[in-house]
Amino acid sequence: MDASIGLGPAHKKEIFLKDYTPPDYSVDNVRMLFKLFDDTVTVIASTDYHRIDTVTSKNLVLNGGPFMDLVSLKLNGAELQKDQFSQTDHSLTLFDVPNQFNLTIETHLNPKENTRLSGLYWSGGNFCTQCEAEGFRDMTYFMDRPDVMAPYSVRIEGDKQDHSVMLSNGNPVGSGDLASSRHYVEWDDPHAKPSYLFALVAGNLARVHDTYKTINGDVVDLNIYVRSDDVEKCDYAMQSLKRSMKWDEDVYGLAYDLSVYNIVAVSDFNMGAMENKGLNIFNTKYVLATAETATDTDFDHVEGVIGHEYFHNWTGNRVTCRDWFQLSLKEGLTVFRDQEFSSDMTSRAVKRLDDVRTLRTFQFQEDSGPLAHNVRPESYIEINNFYTSTVYNKGAEVIRMIHTIIGANAFRDGMDLYFERHDGCAVTCEDFVVAMEDASDSDLSQFRLWYSQAGTPHVSVVRQRDGDDVILTLKQMCSPTPGQIDKKPLHMPIKVGWVGPNGDTLRPKLHQNNQEQSSDEYVLMFNKSEQSFRFSSLPNGCVPSLLRNFSAPITLQTDLSFEENLHIFQFDSDAFTCWEAGQSLASQSILGELSLDSVAEFIAAVGTLLDDTARAPALTAELLTLPSEIIVGQKQDILNPEGIHYGREDLIERIAHTFKERLIELYYELNETSSGEPELQMNKGRRRLKNVLLGYIGRLKDGEKIVCNQYKNASTMTDIMAAFSLITSFDYPRRDRMIADFYDKWHHNDLVIDKWFSVQAQSPRLDTIETIKSLLEHDAFSILNPNRLRALVSSFSILNQRVFHNTSGEGYQLLADMIIKVDSVNPQTAARLISPLGKWKNMPAKQKNVMKSLLNGVLEVKTISNDVKELVLKSLRP
Ligand code: TRP
Ligand code: ZN
Repeated sequence: MDASIGLGPAHKKEIFLKDYTPPDYSVDNVRMLFKLFDDTVTVIASTDYHRIDTVTSKNLVLNGGPFMDLVSLKLNGAELQKDQFSQTDHSLTLFDVPNQFNLTIETHLNPKENTRLSGLYWSGGNFCTQCEAEGFRDMTYFMDRPDVMAPYSVRIEGDKQDHSVMLSNGNPVGSGDLASSRHYVEWDDPHAKPSYLFALVAGNLARVHDTYKTINGDVVDLNIYVRSDDVEKCDYAMQSLKRSMKWDEDVYGLAYDLSVYNIVAVSDFNMGAMENKGLNIFNTKYVLATAETATDTDFDHVEGVIGHEYFHNWTGNRVTCRDWFQLSLKEGLTVFRDQEFSSDMTSRAVKRLDDVRTLRTFQFQEDSGPLAHNVRPESYIEINNFYTSTVYNKGAEVIRMIHTIIGANAFRDGMDLYFERHDGCAVTCEDFVVAMEDASDSDLSQFRLWYSQAGTPHVSVVRQRDGDDVILTLKQMCSPTPGQIDKKPLHMPIKVGWVGPNGDTLRPKLHQNNQEQSSDEYVLMFNKSEQSFRFSSLPNGCVPSLLRNFSAPITLQTDLSFEENLHIFQFDSDAFTCWEAGQSLASQSILGELSLDSVAEFIAAVGTLLDDTARAPALTAELLTLPSEIIVGQKQDILNPEGIHYGREDLIERIAHTFKERLIELYYELNETSSGEPELQMNKGRRRLKNVLLGYIGRLKDGEKIVCNQYKNASTMTDIMAAFSLITSFDYPRRDRMIADFYDKWHHNDLVIDKWFSVQAQSPRLDTIETIKSLLEHDAFSILNPNRLRALVSSFSILNQRVFHNTSGEGYQLLADMIIKVDSVNPQTAARLISPLGKWKNMPAKQKNVMKSLLNGVLEVKTISNDVKELVLKSLRP
């Protein structure tokens, strides 16, 4: 980004990767005392600094935000005088400090007024912290950067009654009583860590306890702290934690390294969860789950996020990031690890489809719009704006490609080498890639472009027959992204197989790297703009199965005919390619690109899935699920949401009517067999299939009865939500009654009420915009709670393509108003609302103008935050 971004001088300035310099001082240790009182918290931080030998400047510059009061500043015990330091809104500079010294700082905080949910804040009766990325500087003045690592010891003093539980990082080392019914607890974290991993929690929380014995024989105390009403809802999280610990030992040989592992669940949280050393803080959404209150998808998310934060202990905490440009070093790698963990715990094939869908829905959207950026960004104004799908999900795909290119064994060697070299250090994405190269003896120099080049590459494949051989010619291109016009060819692994005329697996020969091999699956190392691969001895009527397992995060265009795609859909042994063929036929059908005969043939093929008992039900469910309106929309340069909506509804209805009896019959069959143990994978799969069928049945004339019966008789939240979301989508006479009934039943459970808001916001009915306006006024709605806000506003703006992009422009106006309102209380969360308005380039002229003028309107608000300003300005880029 350049100067044209036009941020005034009073604002935070843009920071560049190329300007990175190591810190001038190192921190030997940090001791902190927190005195908790009702409306003020006193923080006394005592830090030993020493200057790095090579540094000449004698000043020490510390970060510190505008939300705390500086009460005292002592250097080696002596209070500093006014002329010995200077202070701005975001920094504190000490002049002429000695080579080595102790600094003791007292600050006063007001957590109850902190609606930003960063730093020390108050949530549901408890104090808690969120320090990543730059929240620590809102509690005390510090070198708040990830390459400054130190051991911490913490003492917390609070009221015995109000703060019976007081937690921080590391191991508990002391506790006792104080005067006036107060007490203290002391914590010691021996592992040097960056300040963003600091955490503190205090309040009255109930504890769920278990233990885990590591491969080293150490016994670890596992605690999950929640409100006392929620202790019954922690079982799955606890089991997931134990499974994570075991998995990391089995797969990577990595064991836990403290005597306690604490997890606290809070209801006000900007993100999913936070990996603070030894004290994870979680959004309740990713901890609390029972079959009565959480869907099967919620359970999967609990397991995934518990795993994610646990895996950070090695990838993020033990080895951390040198600077925030390296964020994907920990996030991309840890997402890859949590994906693999979930694959091993559930179904690898289904998990992969889920991950591809997530990538396409969020990351492809981001990568093709004005907010496109590298996996390793080169500059930022507000780092919180870079916790993106690109850094997380595309970052995970980049790791996955390395895994595919060098193979599983070399990848494991690379991980071992990475830990051997960098344990206890703050490092870069480059360090990771070098470890992988060294361990595998491979050259990833061209591969590195995945870190420094934004945009989704587009690959086309054409075939050419030459006697018994088939030559595949691959071409790659990538459209310009902001600030990057010319794109270089990337190194990408393309997995390929061949399906014979009878659906059999073929083993042709391939000539690659001066070798001739024979195999049923190949990884093509595609690294030029255009490249050909010759396969020999292939019979007529064979079809290539391309990009198996979605081996690279690209869009693919093939020269496969309708019949050939159908062949892949019916016979391919690779779950992804098979599913993808169905998705693409469905998209073509929805967009009116297929002849009527072809559509009928496709529908017939879909119908055969209903009788295929050999396949796992969860996979059949996936194959029967049509691509979302958003995914179909990505195929259009100028979006036509109404056309897509009707095209998709039409296809669903045709499938429903064609197989009416069979759908209902199978539905009842599955309804019998999918109850019982809610957590059993098999039952989950059957439920998923049953509820996909219900989606079709709900469109039939007598569907309402079946849907409403499921809603009434369901014993799991999965079944309730499947029915309820259909009820809210259609014109069923019972609709309003059911919506009221749901609220009555569940108003005491925040996470379930979030679903109530979310489902209504996703309804494709055109009156949804009115519904949302009235829900914004509902007693249970609050802009202060990010879960609630996202349930209503983001469900609408991100997932409800039809109504959000309605030509009236009301959806846009509503979102712009919310951005401004939320920004005044929580800038981080406000900024995460912006991206849907950046889609203006894909909209017809009238809507385009409305979106742009609303974005400009946000900029006119005098008090707008840097967070929002950065993304709005970027969203307006031509
Ligand atoms: N590091 C956290 C994660 O992986 C992300 C996170 C939690 C976060 N809270 C945050 C990032 C607040 C920015 C701001 O899962
Ligand atoms: Zn993470």
